[in-house]
Amino acid sequence: MTTEPFAAVDVIRAKRDGSRLTGEQIDWVIDAYTRGVVGDEQMAALAMAIFLRGMDAEETARWTGAMIDSGERLALKCSRPTVDKHSTGGVGDKITLPLAPLVAACGAAVPQLSGRGLGHTGGTLDKLESIPGWRAELSTDEITAQLEEVGAVVCAATPTLAPADRKLYALRDVTATVEAVPLIASSIMSKKIAEGAGRLVLDVKVGSGAFMKTREQARALAASLVEIGAAHDVATTALLTDMGTPLGAAVGNAVEVAEAVEVLRGGGPADVVELTLALAREMLALAGLGDVDPARVLASGRAYETWCRMIRAQGGDPEAPLPKPAHVHVVEATESGVVTGLDAYDIGVAAWRLGAGRARKGDPVQSAAGVLCLAKPGERVERGQPLFELHTDTPEAVAAALPLLDAALTIDEKGADDDALAAGKANEGVVLERWESGRS
Ligand code: URA
Repeated sequence: MTTEPFAAVDVIRAKRDGSRLTGEQIDWVIDAYTRGVVGDEQMAALAMAIFLRGMDAEETARWTGAMIDSGERLALKCSRPTVDKHSTGGVGDKITLPLAPLVAACGAAVPQLSGRGLGHTGGTLDKLESIPGWRAELSTDEITAQLEEVGAVVCAATPTLAPADRKLYALRDVTATVEAVPLIASSIMSKKIAEGAGRLVLDVKVGSGAFMKTREQARALAASLVEIGAAHDVATTALLTDMGTPLGAAVGNAVEVAEAVEVLRGGGPADVVELTLALAREMLALAGLGDVDPARVLASGRAYETWCRMIRAQGGDPEAPLPKPAHVHVVEATESGVVTGLDAYDIGVAAWRLGAGRARKGDPVQSAAGVLCLAKPGERVERGQPLFELHTDTPEAVAAALPLLDAALTIDEKGADDDALAAGKANEGVVLERWESGRS
């Protein structure tokens, strides 16, 4: 019989009572959980104790290290400087799609190992899988070759990367322990560090459609992420960005790909372009390519060419028509006025109910499902004007989405006065704050 150096119940009790966990306790509990020696019920209790009591920077860095060590590390080699980006998750967040080829077209290499969506936030792989023929699963050799030849890869993370996080994240999802700063920060950073990221830009979302609802919470997460980066020798920058309103007009799968392609062709919604360029500048600065102007590269069409090569390299046809929904329902304005609010969470749940997302891991998603938001905060609308287009293959889902759209949108009937426009945040940018190496 193998003897374990600790008893799980003592580790749980220590954190429950507000003590710091020792490095040895942390290494053991993560390893023992991965081996199945610590049970789900014990890890759930420990996650709740951490949720309530927190972990300091040293504990969080050690916890991250233990999760990295639960699996393999990927060492991707490339002749160009590599730089990665991660978003904490939002509604209409298709930024990876234009960003990865743009940064590659600027001279860096972007290995972006992504996940599928769960709940109201969409997953990058679900979006890309709406492109006919496109393949998410790549071998390490294929990733390396594509990185060298194209400069950008967006594909599924392999199951051997941070397996402790895979198990713990699924457990947190069903035990109301997701929204704990040290657990979110270690979860994200363990995967990125295991992937071999040496330079990382984090898009920390704040607002109703994000995990962090307030700026204070988002700042704490940004600070923890950059601290872990520093502790593990990863040059890390974090931008706090607005997720009170969906990004762009499109929320779903194929509709978001179409919007990303608009951006790559020089058009697209202003907020999507703004955030894509802001993140590109941060990535290029970390990669030592700070003198390259991503706006010029975007306008030149080179980012779109790189997108086409990236999609083709993974079996997709970038020119093929995207899937169309079996049913489209249009919601019109019942009054005239100025749009003063469009709640990201409600829109995310509406798109999910239409079939764009999944309720359980492994569920299929509808490629064509989603919501087009045709009026954004700050815009004037007239009675009878289309406000939303609902796309779905299951028309019976429309009834479940409509109340959410109704709740999401606020219209000030008084008209386009200054107060209404200010309430609609028409002039506030997407990027709110910047964090780097533990300072703002
Ligand atoms: N994304 C992750 O990868 N982990 C979390 O805990 C939350 C968001």
